[in-house]
Amino acid sequence: MSEQLLSVRDLRVRFTTEDGIVHAVDGVSFDLAAGEVLAIVGESGSGKSVTAQTIMGLTRSPNARIEGSVAYRGRELLTADDEELMRVRGEEIAMIFQDPMTSLNPVYKVGDQIGEAIQAHRHESDHKAREQTIELLAAVGIPDPSKRVDNYPHEYSGGMRQRAMIAMGLALEPTVLIADEPSTALDVTIQAQILRLLEQLNRDRDLAVIIITHDLGVVAEIADRVLVMYGGRIIESGSLEQIFYDPQHPYTWGLLGSLARPDRPRTMRLSQITGQPPSLLAPPAGCHFRPRCPHAFDRCTRVPPLETRVGENHADRCWLSVEQKKTLRVVKTGEIGLEAPAA
Ligand SMILES: Nc1ncnc2c1ncn2[C@@H]1O[C@H](COP(=O)(O)OP(=O)(O)OP(=O)(O)O)[C@@H](O)[C@H]1O
Ligand SMILES: [Mg+2]
Repeated sequence: MSEQLLSVRDLRVRFTTEDGIVHAVDGVSFDLAAGEVLAIVGESGSGKSVTAQTIMGLTRSPNARIEGSVAYRGRELLTADDEELMRVRGEEIAMIFQDPMTSLNPVYKVGDQIGEAIQAHRHESDHKAREQTIELLAAVGIPDPSKRVDNYPHEYSGGMRQRAMIAMGLALEPTVLIADEPSTALDVTIQAQILRLLEQLNRDRDLAVIIITHDLGVVAEIADRVLVMYGGRIIESGSLEQIFYDPQHPYTWGLLGSLARPDRPRTMRLSQITGQPPSLLAPPAGCHFRPRCPHAFDRCTRVPPLETRVGENHADRCWLSVEQKKTLRVVKTGEIGLEAPAA
């Protein structure tokens, strides 16, 4: 059994805004084991980033109300003091943010920024920190790292900036790396390379990785487990195989159906999920997906529980029966560009 690193229980995050209260995260629970790759998938505004930011202690503010528990190796982080949080951030759990240009400071050399991160936590000499920085740049695949260490962020390509961000995240040898949309705004080739890099770091360093993305297709090759979020809640969770071959929630069917497939032109999608994601200021009562769900019925005005019905550790939040789902499901398994799992 791998060690449990992170344990999130019934996490709730509410923000008070001028327009009202935003229920950004509404009762999210999950575990992350050492060496595991977990994908959190969902449309814009589903609460993915707020979940990750809250794990890192970054949503604390006077207008935020945070409830539940986030434990790292048994230590509660939600109530940890600033000093403890500072140590956990970086040394235990590192996060790479959505936009590398906002995270890398344009006026400092890339190498100095990484070196500074090392020196802020470890009392290394300038020379030692520089050496470690060059090693890190090499480890994330920056060409000619002993020269590139002295470049400014704007001298890096988009893909290299992503790699530099990952190098910075790795500087203190964390056990968990959270990558929030590591791939949007990058072209697909670079996106694939960054995923390869994360996969390689997972394998070589036994790094546990949480990948946050809109696109289920992006994680198809590297995730062990998938959490599907909708309107601040987990609506389905399971192994990659369970989510791809036996999806239970109509929203997951929609996500799978709208995946681009290698054998179809990008413009020809199986099905798109019509309608808009819910407003988290005034979410619909009951199942948040109800207004967009083609299979909604009267019961759906009550919140369905996240329940395990079809397989070990495969849970979904839907009132339809397993039998009904079998007949309603339009996503044909095996149509989604994965090889069938060994029987
Ligand atoms: N500091 C904040 N104050 C108020 N509302 C916030 C704050 N941070 C996030 N939100 C709101 O919380 C909701 C969830 O946001 P979050 O950033 O987690 O979405 P996401 O799933 O990461 O979306 P995306 O895929 O677009 O990044 C959104 O409605 C967002 O506007
Ligand atoms: Mg986000």
